[in-house]
Amino acid sequence: MDDQSIQSQAIGVFDSGIGGLTVANAILAQLPNESICYFGDTAHIPYGTKQVPTIRQYCEQITTFLLTRSCKAIVVACNTATAAALPHLRAKWPDIPFIGMEPAVKPAVMASKSHKIGVLATQTTFKSPRYQNLLTRFAEGYTCFENPCIGLVERIEAGEWEHPAVHLLLQKIIEPMLESGVDTLVLGCTHYPFVQPTIASIAGRKVEIIDPAPAIARQLARVLAKHALSQLQPIVPKHEFWVSGNEDSMRRALTRTALGGDWEINRFKGEQR
Ligand code: DGL
Repeated sequence: MDDQSIQSQAIGVFDSGIGGLTVANAILAQLPNESICYFGDTAHIPYGTKQVPTIRQYCEQITTFLLTRSCKAIVVACNTATAAALPHLRAKWPDIPFIGMEPAVKPAVMASKSHKIGVLATQTTFKSPRYQNLLTRFAEGYTCFENPCIGLVERIEAGEWEHPAVHLLLQKIIEPMLESGVDTLVLGCTHYPFVQPTIASIAGRKVEIIDPAPAIARQLARVLAKHALSQLQPIVPKHEFWVSGNEDSMRRALTRTALGGDWEINRFKGEQR
């Protein structure tokens, strides 16, 4: 494979479902020449309540598949999968650049004036040594109010982004944080930006909401450049979308985001899964 053909290969992006599309959108906004091969593990969603070894196994199988699609780099567009599997994936495929996600505690701490931040993420992310390490490194002297938002990922995956029950659920989560003086909220799960308008309407204009997707796209750009993998020629990108289970959520989410709904959604049969 010559250099140019390596550069024209897609970036693999995966998540348990549609959440990683929020990251894919940020990547395409920043790197419009790049092609994306997206994998939503809809057969196994949610990851956030599963055990680490199980998530690791799914991530390994997805990576193996994305490499059969000749992806030149892989974005683990899921905080939970990153917490459970990123070092493991890097050790198994040392030649592949992996870009992971973690709750944006550092930017939140930098933005907070009240020294009180709210973090919305999944149970598995909160329990991970990676997250605990983030708190130790960046949040000393700050109070972090955490909520695993039980049931929210499933509702977002079902397309109930503006559903009154979602509003109520978010109200129960966010209002106590506001009463405690939180002035910054971290979206520590890639599904949550789909309900950012509802979160913003509850939190009000004085609360800053941090979605790390644009920062991940910038980090991806740096990593691609460092490995001489950037697609610098203007081309028409060729995106691919794959699901391991139900495709309805992917279809719905694509239709309602900047990517548009006009894509073939491929069903991963997964003989090896
Ligand atoms: N989107 C995933 C994340 O960023 C979690 C969703 C799930 O629980 O499957 O953590």
